[in-house]
Amino acid sequence: MPFDVAAVRAHFPALQEGVAHFDGPGGSQVPDVVADAVANTLRSGISNRGSVTASELRAEFVVATARQAAADLLGAQPAGIIFGRSMTQLTYDLSRTLAKQWRAGDEVIVTKLDHDANVRPWVQAAEAHDVRVRWAEFDRTTGELPVSAVTSLLTERTRVVAVTAASNLLGTRPAIARITPRAHEAGALVYVDGVHLTPHAWVDVEAMGADFYACSPYKFLGPHLGIVAARPALLESLRPDKLLPASNAVPERFEYGTLPYELLAGTTAAIDFLADLTPGTGPRRTRLAQSMQVLEQHESAMLKRLEAGLSGVTRLYGSPRRDRTPTALFTVDGVPSATVYKELAVRGVNAPAGTFYALECARHLGLAEGGAVRAGIAPYTDESDVDRLITAIHDLKPS
Ligand SMILES: Cc1ncc(COP(=O)(O)O)c(C=O)c1O
Repeated sequence: MPFDVAAVRAHFPALQEGVAHFDGPGGSQVPDVVADAVANTLRSGISNRGSVTASELRAEFVVATARQAAADLLGAQPAGIIFGRSMTQLTYDLSRTLAKQWRAGDEVIVTKLDHDANVRPWVQAAEAHDVRVRWAEFDRTTGELPVSAVTSLLTERTRVVAVTAASNLLGTRPAIARITPRAHEAGALVYVDGVHLTPHAWVDVEAMGADFYACSPYKFLGPHLGIVAARPALLESLRPDKLLPASNAVPERFEYGTLPYELLAGTTAAIDFLADLTPGTGPRRTRLAQSMQVLEQHESAMLKRLEAGLSGVTRLYGSPRRDRTPTALFTVDGVPSATVYKELAVRGVNAPAGTFYALECARHLGLAEGGAVRAGIAPYTDESDVDRLITAIHDLKPS
């Protein structure tokens, strides 16, 4: 099925500014329907959730609808969807909750491929509880994290394995579904960072075997907040710190304060937009399966074009041939990455340079402080965006 990128682009008011956005891995642009959903929620009568007034019922409806939408996106249950300010905040919260059950001498596994948001909360919780941290290393040349790099660290003391479903620097996608059964055999829980994967692929948290799966709507065309999906029964077994009057129900007891109703409405609109990226019928999850597959084809075609255009003039990191998201990390010989970033910006191309909080990953790759340039493909990326980036890079290459 063809992907109508022009029709998709027409929904993004921001693109009228004429910039080619390759900064999606940092945060995507937002379609009109998402902005409308946020604004309409703020314009309508809305109160704290309740069952008496129409505005209370509207808030209830917004929350229930968003939980269902997120569950459809991830293959999870609505009662297992936790909303929070960001993935980072939710991961800190959950790491502290899980750490209450740890004993001195227990172990957690983190990886050098991960964004710091799925590293530091575990490392710091481990320090606080006298728990050992074990580091899984990825292959510097291919950018791959072999399954054995994680599973060889498992022991009967492992309590949590924190691993990314896709690297926000290299785009490589570890085989999570092969890690989770081994972790479970060892008695460990698996906390998967799906922030970078979710915008680009069909996600099925159950098939993946993730005990927790975290993502952020602002990376998949939605507003700024975070989501964690977990089995409701697992959440029932956990006791987060909470205010006394706050609900003790699951998932509410994991959600601090009043939820941002307008952002939840925007999240539902973003998921509906993804489901309708290609024409389809049937339940939303079925439509999502179809449109994410078509989107993946479009995005890999854009990535291929980009990599072909950059080959020879840039050093590309990671393994372009393996299963990965459409994210290219590169440096240009003789030009500092910060300069590349600025020169691209002058040409109306947003492709930032840095290490993008994937601190251990950047260190393991031997990247200098300034990092490398990252170009991420998004649903609104078209051939002319890609060609602009390629031309701009060729222009600034010193001869
Ligand atoms: C892979 C990955 N994990 C986690 C995060 C943190 O997400 P949030 O900003 O929702 O805390 C990011 C943000 O860039 C990311 O790319």
